Amino acid sequence: MINENLNFLLWNIENGADEAIDNKPINYFECSKKQTKLKDSLPEDNIKNNNQRDKIIPKQLTPEKLLEVKSLQDLKIALNSFNACSLKTTAMNTVFGDGNPESKIMLIGEAPGADEDRMGIPFVGLSGKLLDKMLASIALSREKNVYISNIIPWRPPGNRTPTPTEVALCLPFIRKHIELINPKILLLLGGSAASALLNTSDAVSRMRGRWFEYSIPETNKKIDALVTFHPAFLLRSASQKKLAWKDMIMLKQKLADLGEI
Ligand code: URA
Repeated sequence: MINENLNFLLWNIENGADEAIDNKPINYFECSKKQTKLKDSLPEDNIKNNNQRDKIIPKQLTPEKLLEVKSLQDLKIALNSFNACSLKTTAMNTVFGDGNPESKIMLIGEAPGADEDRMGIPFVGLSGKLLDKMLASIALSREKNVYISNIIPWRPPGNRTPTPTEVALCLPFIRKHIELINPKILLLLGGSAASALLNTSDAVSRMRGRWFEYSIPETNKKIDALVTFHPAFLLRSASQKKLAWKDMIMLKQKLADLGEI
């Protein structure tokens, strides 16, 4: 019996259920249906009336509809009504963004981990702590002058890498997010962010330490984008920290060139 239980536990972990949240199992499929209904019946913070709500949240959200999104609050609402990405059904929270939305620097990671999923805030776990230290080393912080989000707003089970389909489904949202923040500089953390936004399959080790241009599709505005290692990778490969440090110096130099520090 003990062996059977152990095997069952290992099977769950292999399938991405790596946290015991409650004593009783919860049917999240049932639960997410109920939550959607509940959300639909709640007045959202900044939606004055139902007409306005229907304009922003069509029953079936299409990326084209995102053109009508004009604020971060609307984007949050649009994301909450988007049900085409199955990662949403296993995640506890939608992890939207954190930091100062007026920032000239926007950081983009891959997807929330367990801590981020629990708290609904990007980069609050171990890699987030390292990221905060990296930022502090060049006098940046999310409290003051940095805004942070991810390519994917829902935690992939077991922290697996998001699939190309999941990235493609979520890409219009992060693109809109960038457009709304309108930063002068993007710092892309790791391969998923770099390849999704720069449309390349190059290894991070080849892309890091170089400036790229990210184009906002709607306005054709160009934003300087620097690629660096993901902090979770740096936690596993401490010897690469010296290269990440060089990237931070490059970032600081660019900020100085742009007159932002
Ligand atoms: N890793 C990411 O890419 N994003 C997070 O928010 C946390 C860990």
